[in-house]
Amino acid sequence: MTDFTRREMIGASALAVGVAATITTDARAQVLPSPDASPRRRVRLEHWRFHLGHAADPARDFGFGRDQRTFAKAGDSALAARSDFDDSKWSDIQVPHDWAVALPFAQGPIARDSDRGAAHGFKAIGRDFPENSIGWYRIPIEITDADKGRSIWLEFDGVFRDCLIFVNGYVAGRNESGYAPFRVEIDDFLNYDGKPNVITVRSDASLGEGWFYEGAGIYRHVDLVSADPVHIPQWGTFVRSELRTNGALIHTQTEVFNSGPVPASVVLRQSILGGAANTALPDTSLELAPGERRIVAQEVLLPRPLLWSLEEPNLNSLYSQIVINGLLVDDYSTSFGIRDIRFDAARGFFLNGRPVKLLGTANHHDHAGVGTGISDTLHRWRVAKLKEMGSNAWRSAHNPPSTSLLDACDLYGMLMICEARYNSSDEEALSQLERMIRRDRNHPSVILWSLGNEEPHQATERGARINAEMARHVKRLDPTRPITFAMDQGWDDGIGRVVDVLGFNYRTNQIEAYHGRHPGQPVYGSETGSTVATRGEYSTDKARHTVRAYDTEHPWWATTAEEWWTIVAERPYIAGGFVWTGFDYRGEPTPYNEWPSISSQFGILDTCGFPKDDYYYYRAWWRPGLPQVHLLPHWNWPGRAGTPIEVWAHGNTEEVELLLNGRSLGRKAMPRNRHLEWRVPYAPGKLEAIGYNGGQIVARDVRETTSVPAAIELLADRRVATIHDVLILNASIVDAKGRVVPTASNLLRFSVNGGKIIGVGNGNPNSLEPDVASQRKAFNGFAQAILRIGNDRGPVDISVASLGLKGTRLRIMAG
Ligand code: GAL
Repeated sequence: MTDFTRREMIGASALAVGVAATITTDARAQVLPSPDASPRRRVRLEHWRFHLGHAADPARDFGFGRDQRTFAKAGDSALAARSDFDDSKWSDIQVPHDWAVALPFAQGPIARDSDRGAAHGFKAIGRDFPENSIGWYRIPIEITDADKGRSIWLEFDGVFRDCLIFVNGYVAGRNESGYAPFRVEIDDFLNYDGKPNVITVRSDASLGEGWFYEGAGIYRHVDLVSADPVHIPQWGTFVRSELRTNGALIHTQTEVFNSGPVPASVVLRQSILGGAANTALPDTSLELAPGERRIVAQEVLLPRPLLWSLEEPNLNSLYSQIVINGLLVDDYSTSFGIRDIRFDAARGFFLNGRPVKLLGTANHHDHAGVGTGISDTLHRWRVAKLKEMGSNAWRSAHNPPSTSLLDACDLYGMLMICEARYNSSDEEALSQLERMIRRDRNHPSVILWSLGNEEPHQATERGARINAEMARHVKRLDPTRPITFAMDQGWDDGIGRVVDVLGFNYRTNQIEAYHGRHPGQPVYGSETGSTVATRGEYSTDKARHTVRAYDTEHPWWATTAEEWWTIVAERPYIAGGFVWTGFDYRGEPTPYNEWPSISSQFGILDTCGFPKDDYYYYRAWWRPGLPQVHLLPHWNWPGRAGTPIEVWAHGNTEEVELLLNGRSLGRKAMPRNRHLEWRVPYAPGKLEAIGYNGGQIVARDVRETTSVPAAIELLADRRVATIHDVLILNASIVDAKGRVVPTASNLLRFSVNGGKIIGVGNGNPNSLEPDVASQRKAFNGFAQAILRIGNDRGPVDISVASLGLKGTRLRIMAG
């Protein structure tokens, strides 16, 4: 990497325009960041103690609310918030943490109102379960005399929900939203004299904000930050790029805040790192009065930028330093990507000047075993799963995503729609919106701000007013991205008239007529599909709550995969679509919507990320460059000899031939964006699909009748991991020849040396087995365990056993 010299820098740009910019003669040697040398301290608070409280009984809520004096005296509102409170009997947990996932499933009093319990997946949480709906968290933090006089705060990426943040007994902050990030200033409440300092969080998940499983507690990261009083505040930078013929013009806005009691003469020194070169921006000198904030705007042209794209998601960073009297007092790094986005009403979405169809999925944010407590690794794994399918876009339905998810999207090249949860123009809603935008506007993956989804006021004049106010707020904070809203009716009215890009939830066949009426407004499918299917099941059985996994079943408002995609694929003006959903999610257990269904069956993949058959439909048409063919169903139909079985092939080769036990059942041309079907009288053995392009064999898939379960196979998503990290372990049940037994449901017991299984799952939408356990029945051949590496470096040994089956072992290295 080359660094620009000062002379080159000045020469290269008279282009660099600074507001109040003064070019000084300071040496540039210190522009490169060294995390150890950083004057700013950032500590991730991961290891907390946890205990349930009680929403109705102060005696079981550590005395909280024991009398009317709860907030009467400073520093004395809750016993459990005091620094000397004994929490030794509380459990040790690691954030991200969702306490709801560990609760039992319960119909309980909700039976009279099954919809309510169904919505969040029948976990025993909410108003009917006060004993499970309050969570207390405590963590000691290290503060020394050297921190005195510094600005110290906590950054919460999301807590579900309504939480009080205490510092040494003092209420230091409060946050209502379960999804918006927030910051709590804590320096006034700390002990700097060696006495303990304890952060306590009381979170109340009695109420919900959505109609789906929402988890509970500190389910996203928390950071402690200690900075000089003169510093760049949280989300204090905004970096935008404009592609020009001679390079990329980068616009930076950096806020500098003097939170201290004395005036400060500061120099803001910035560089752009990454890509082909490091580029220094001119220094900016500022005089800041106590309490003053200034935003410094600069521009610089990068002649040879490495663009962020789906194939090569190159990232850059803006490294900002604050220098006072030649001393570095604060530094701040902003990751960003250089790319150009544009929606065109006639031609859809463009990335870096090229049309890109949005091959999207909409997703909630829970996973088997861990609920909403998703580690960074798991976020990356989930993004990678969809990327492998050929998906290039993710809609965070219906709430702001976590920073970790956005980082994963930036890293892997996945486009993102960030969505507000609270569709209103009241002060709280605008604050939530602002926090999402200020936090997320530097992520290159983010292409649209969604103001909301299917609100009752969507087609009304009042809805238009509210959303116009929200839109104005967004544009002030980020003029670079369009605004959208997901509507399921009334597109011609209300909010449809306010947003830049209009989302159609389902009703994909109505987009054409709308486009005719409003040819100037870009459109896309904000929710498309959605096929309901149970992984590995090929009949719809109301008694068992299963749905056949052919692409045929969908609710009345929806369509199959094939129906929506054939419409969107052929119309360039439709920017793309977001399948409802990529992954099955807890709650809203459509189509049965009653006990004991706990998860939706909309997913292309199940709650563990095991693919259903529709995965292969999408992969075929979303990755046309990869010749492929996939057969369904499985070929284990004892007692059905001679009975015709409906056989489908998904794939993208020109022709597909089907063979049963070596005998050809015909070769058919694959219609574009569709599938092939046969009816095959069942005979055990080998069903085979062969895909041809230009008469040559280019792909093949086989379903074989297996024998009984004999052994377990185990795969980890990687073999090396860092301590405390999370790994995804997929187990399958195989027969003596190593073929997955597609109906196997054996109980698997996981054990680990050097780590812990923190959750298990199998993708069965009707399973009431506990999530937080170390054993799980397989469902149609597969189960999953989420492993957390322990405290020590070295080998971690995992074994999995099952009665009557040959077990297996796996060694991971923790480093
Ligand atoms: C949509 C809604 C989604 C989900 C889906 C189920 O109307 O936006 O959140 O409820 O229906 O089909």
